[in-house]
Parts: sequence; C-alpha cells; structure tokens
Amino acid sequence: MKTLVKQDNAWYNNLILDLKKLEFTGVVLTKWSIGKRILEDFDKFGSPEYGSKKIENIARDCKVSSRDIYFCLQVAKKYPNSATPLQSYSWHYVTNKLLPSPKEERIKSENSLQLSDSKIEIRKGDFKTVLNDIYNIDAIITDPPYPYEFIDCFSELSLYAKEHLKEDGFAAVYSGQYHLPEVIKRLSEHLTYVWTFCLYHVGKKQLVNGVNIMCGWKPVLIFSKGKKKMRFSAYDVLVSEKREKDLHPWQQSESGVLELINILTKPGELIVDPFAGSGTFLKAASDNGRKAIGAEIKC
Ligand SMILES: C[S@@+](CC[C@H](N)C(=O)[O-])C[C@H]1O[C@@H](n2cnc3c(N)ncnc32)[C@H](O)[C@@H]1O
Repeated sequence: MKTLVKQDNAWYNNLILDLKKLEFTGVVLTKWSIGKRILEDFDKFGSPEYGSKKIENIARDCKVSSRDIYFCLQVAKKYPNSATPLQSYSWHYVTNKLLPSPKEERIKSENSLQLSDSKIEIRKGDFKTVLNDIYNIDAIITDPPYPYEFIDCFSELSLYAKEHLKEDGFAAVYSGQYHLPEVIKRLSEHLTYVWTFCLYHVGKKQLVNGVNIMCGWKPVLIFSKGKKKMRFSAYDVLVSEKREKDLHPWQQSESGVLELINILTKPGELIVDPFAGSGTFLKAASDNGRKAIGAEIKC
C-alpha cells in the first residue's frame, strides 16, 4: 500500500513572499540577500515531504532565470556573513570574476568529474579520445565551434556519431548560418541528413556584418545512421527564451535544448555532448532524467 506523504508547501510560499518583498538596495546586495534567504530553506529542496520543490520553481515564480538564482546562491555561499566585500563591484564583475563559473564547478578534477548531486560527467580533452569508450549512445546533442577554422570538427563528429550512436539514434548539431552548406556536407560524410530545426531566439537579433542580415534563429541539424523517421513526433521550431547574457557566462540557453532532449530520448537514456563547453546541454539532460556525458577540450 502506498504511504501518503503530506506535502508542506507553506515554507515555499513564505520564501517566495520574502523574495518578492526584498528592498531593492543595489543589484549586488539584493542578489546576495536573495541567495541568503533561499539558503535558509535550502535543505527542503528536493524533499517529497516539502513538496519536492526545485530551484527552478523559484526562478519561474519570481520570473527570473534559473542561472540568476544559481548566481545568487553562489554569492551568498561564498560570502556568508556580509555583502560588504562586494559593495564596490558590479554584478557583472561578481559573476564573471569572483564566482566560479559553472564550467569551473563542473570540471574540477584533472580528467573527469562525476558530480555527486547529478549524473553529469564532463571528460577533459579531445572528444575523439576521451569519449572513445562510449557506445550505444541514444542521442548526441551538441554545439561545435562555428568559425571556419573548426570546420573539420564536423567531419570528426560525423565519424564519431556513426561509430558510437545506437543504430536508431539521432544527432542534433547546432550550427551557424555562414558555413551551413559545408557543415551539412561534412556531417553527411558518415551520417544521413534528416531535417533542419529552427532554434528561434525570442527577442534576440544579431546583425551579421558580412551579409548585412539581422539574424534571429539558428539551424539545428538532425542527422542519423540511416533512419529518417523520428522516434517521437516533433515540431521543428524550437524556442530559446531571452536571457540576460551579461549576468551569465553560459553560452547557450537551456530552454531550446529541453525540447530536443524530449524529442530524441526517453528518461534513463544516454545523451552525449562532445563539445560540452560549460555543460549547459548535459545539465539540462541530467535535470530531465537522462544520463549525460560530455567532453571539453579547454578546461
Ligand atoms: C560552441 S562551444 C559549446 C558551448 C556549449 N553548448 C555551452 O552552452 O557552453 C564549443 C566548445 O567545444 C570545445 N571543443 C572544440 N573542439 C573540441 C574537441 N575536439 N573536443 C572537445 N571539445 C572541443 C570548445 O573548447 C568549446 O568550448
């Protein structure tokens, strides 16, 4: 017989009320105060008894990004007694210079790190070497570097995917627009082209000087080992919510990738990101119940 656990959400409602009541006393001090207040209830997060709330719930209820909350927590943990040492700095300086970046946090050891509180593993080095022992990958979701000098990455990724993906696995590869024909050609060396998804950036447009085009979307190329039909029905426009880039060093918004994760895999399956960067995709995969392994050459 199932035991009914009575969920207590009163603490959480009080927390959100307190956060909304905080006086605006300057960006850094306010963010520090937010972090301090959340830390008071930190041990309740994830507990079924306390409603299984996640940090992401605060972000949604306070209409800020999860990364912003993450930084508030980091700053409050690093300066537990007072925000005075931070007073002369801007929030941008604090997050970029004084706090460990998510990348540094995740890649602490020489060669690899298995985080105790998640299933993310980022291996240090060239993906062709450090991910060579991983087979039967359900999906590769990755964002290789776009400049032309890195174009060989796409050929290498194509070969890696052919050898390491499951027979019915898919690769979703972010790409810039500029060298798209060459990128598709390189990925097609060992894989089959399936589709191009549009990752639409809400509110974010960028002028591409060389062509004088205001660009508001990014191609996400879907390749397979021959299979054309996707495992789950999919809408080919992904939406990346606007983010406050100056507050966060992470490069890609998590929001677009969540849909890809759900389109390409089921919970419990393995997602690999050979070009992990700060590990945004791996974190999103792990947070959504997938196993997540990646590589990053520069760390
Ligand atoms: C566009 S960034 C990835 C950004 C990532 N999606 C994020 O949100 O942080 C590409 C990354 O691939 C890494 N990289 C380039 N070549 C690599 C290789 N051969 N093996 C592993 N990582 C590589 C680069 O150092 C860079 O951090």
